[in-house]
Amino acid sequence: MSPSSLVVAIDGPSGSGKSTVARRVAQALALRYLDTGAMYRALTWWLLEQGADLRDHRRVAALATQLPLTIGMDPHHPTVHVGAVDVGTVIRESRISSVVSMVATNLGVRSELVRRQREIVEEGGVVVEGRDITTVVAPDAPVRVLLTASENTRLARRAHDVHGDAHPEAVAATRDQVVRRDADDATVARFLHPADGVDVVDSSHLSVDETVAAVLDLVRRRAGVTPR
Ligand code: DC
Repeated sequence: MSPSSLVVAIDGPSGSGKSTVARRVAQALALRYLDTGAMYRALTWWLLEQGADLRDHRRVAALATQLPLTIGMDPHHPTVHVGAVDVGTVIRESRISSVVSMVATNLGVRSELVRRQREIVEEGGVVVEGRDITTVVAPDAPVRVLLTASENTRLARRAHDVHGDAHPEAVAATRDQVVRRDADDATVARFLHPADGVDVVDSSHLSVDETVAAVLDLVRRRAGVTPR
């Protein structure tokens, strides 16, 4: 396997640290980085801009095919544009996080975004992260990883990201976002347990550096590729 055509597929629930880890792995291996969650978020942002009713499944699925999305996959500077608008920051706001599952559980939306993701996977040379990458988008990738962490760890990390600390109130406020959203998302993608042949990395007691090292070790063992 040529290192530059390698595909690394990473799935995990929210707060598992997969975005940070996937990005760092892509940097270490000089691969592109694709955050598929950003695609669902960008679509959600665009639908809200147009005042679309997110419950109207057929209309939402039809609009998904029209989404003018450009994803910049440089792992040192990933970008997300809808048309000419840079939505990289706004798609992380809680007004998006709180409704994105409604869009991501629309099966018509999934088939359109999975189609776009597979085009990128087919070109190779990419670390792709999401919820259905190891199972649906890139089931034949040589390296497939499920990144997990205990619920308490995930809640504390998200509370830290969103509120700047992990005080009990911040953790409670985060609980709905993390636990409810994962439960909703798990109805359409199986990311809480590994599929056959998928390696599990549990980051509950690992630092980011240690988690990146564990994934790079799997890349070395599964694909024979090491950082330059
Ligand atoms: O990883 P994230 O929080 O940015 O993901 C945003 C939403 O998109 C979340 O509700 C899960 C969903 N998602 C998905 O269903 N499939 C993917 N491959 C990636 C994200």
